[in-house]
Amino acid sequence: MIEKLWTKKDLISLSELTADELTLILDTAAEFKKVNRRRVKKVPALRGKTVVNFFVEPSTRTRVSFELAEQRLSADIINMTSSTSSLIKGETLLDTLKNIESLQVDIIVMRHAASGAHKLLSERLSCGIVNAGDGAHGHPTQALLDIFTMREKKGSLEGLNVAIVGDILHSRVARSDIIGLLKMGAKVTICGPATLLPREFRKLGVRVCDNLRNAIENADVINMLRIQRERQQASYFPSISEYASIYGINSETIKYVKPDALIMHPGPINRGVEVESHIADGPQSVILEQVTNGLAVRMGVLYLIAGCLGN
Ligand code: CP
Repeated sequence: MIEKLWTKKDLISLSELTADELTLILDTAAEFKKVNRRRVKKVPALRGKTVVNFFVEPSTRTRVSFELAEQRLSADIINMTSSTSSLIKGETLLDTLKNIESLQVDIIVMRHAASGAHKLLSERLSCGIVNAGDGAHGHPTQALLDIFTMREKKGSLEGLNVAIVGDILHSRVARSDIIGLLKMGAKVTICGPATLLPREFRKLGVRVCDNLRNAIENADVINMLRIQRERQQASYFPSISEYASIYGINSETIKYVKPDALIMHPGPINRGVEVESHIADGPQSVILEQVTNGLAVRMGVLYLIAGCLGN
């Protein structure tokens, strides 16, 4: 009766979910992780449902894992890109997706550069809308897979010390991670150059720190964020090499990391900037396990949403 606990047709932001709903997604994902280890990795849960994947911004991990999740759940799938859609002729996003919905599509998975695009669509469309990243606002399934990985590795999120380091200002992952982790009882520190560290985040209940050593020496988990050069309109630090030596996890700064701390990164990594290669590929890194867990989490999200859309 798992579906009875889930009543939402959309996944827009973790701020709309309770701790019980977050736990339900994590528990559902854990079941799908078992499915993904079977010889036959396919279940009929979304048979007869149609999912459209619409990625208006580039993606590797999120796009491929959503598509694979839909295939594993036996959905019918359409993949759309903005460059081959009539958006380039001037059609609005809302008109485009109303036309897609008219084809009796059940769920639209979308990534878009505009913060808030998914919220607007979810209020105007009756199909399910899943946020695969909206501007610098949110990336809920990335946060869910991050939290899933932390819970799997550390047992509990209650009281877990999580440091999120890097380009907090432009990071949708940081915003979603913070919201989800605080709801699940973790303690969050954000760290980076002062120019990339919005002080208003303090209001969310996180510790704000511009000294890497102070941020990471007691951390159980260190989530290193990508420097998002494509979203930076100004110089936020003097040079990449200076940033890497002060805020990267490297041969020097790893000395401050607890031996059992997890090193995470949502990808794509700027190797040698956020994390040196030998650490990204080393024993404390769970970066590729995050990707593996992303598939199970996205199967869980799609399964729960499809369950409340009706026939
Ligand atoms: N972490 C993440 O969203 O990666 P992609 O941009 O490759 O999907």
